[in-house]
Amino acid sequence: MTFTVAVDGPAAAGKGTISRAVAAHFGFAHLDTGLLYRAVGARMLDGLDPVEAAETLQTDVLQRDDLRTPQVSEAASKVAAIPEVRAALVDFQRAFAARAGGAVLDGRDIGTVICPEAPAKLFVTASDTVRAERRYRELAAAGVETTFDEVLQATRDRDARDSARATAPLKPAEDAKILDTSQMSIDEAVAAAVAAIEARR
Ligand code: C5P
Repeated sequence: MTFTVAVDGPAAAGKGTISRAVAAHFGFAHLDTGLLYRAVGARMLDGLDPVEAAETLQTDVLQRDDLRTPQVSEAASKVAAIPEVRAALVDFQRAFAARAGGAVLDGRDIGTVICPEAPAKLFVTASDTVRAERRYRELAAAGVETTFDEVLQATRDRDARDSARATAPLKPAEDAKILDTSQMSIDEAVAAAVAAIEARR
């Protein structure tokens, strides 16, 4: 049995947390597609050409421990605007989506470009101040020196770049269920996501 759940949304909206919980609930595999772009961004910061970095990407790079830094976040959203980088990552994502046993993929263009036929699509969002607050707390807990204002600005810059790019911009698929988590606890958001997926099964 294959069953694909596509989860899209802006930075720090809770996609990752919800996707992991949904995958555990249904026994599906989970792919955080942002990590692919982060790995390409990190390799660009190492000095590689981003298209070459995407075309030669090996999955062991996804284990690098610097993929969540603010520098890599910014680099990821820059390389993600390059059509050849996106094209190089399509087959891997589609093969993952088609694996037996079900799959949850989270990203920006899963429901619109990678898996437009996915039976269940969610667009997880929250206000930019709520998202920046969550990301700021994560970074502070990880010992990264930054301020809330810096994180809010970086979140807005990344949203603008992800939404304005010509190739696969961030936007909900027409048949996506919109989940605004601004006022929800994690448990509430996961329950709403599970209910939305059940309704499409
Ligand atoms: O999801 P995450 O914040 O880790 O993604 C990092 C960056 O990778 C995003 O800002 C976006 O530019 C890019 N991305 C993308 N398409 C995806 C996943 C991530 O363009 N499917």
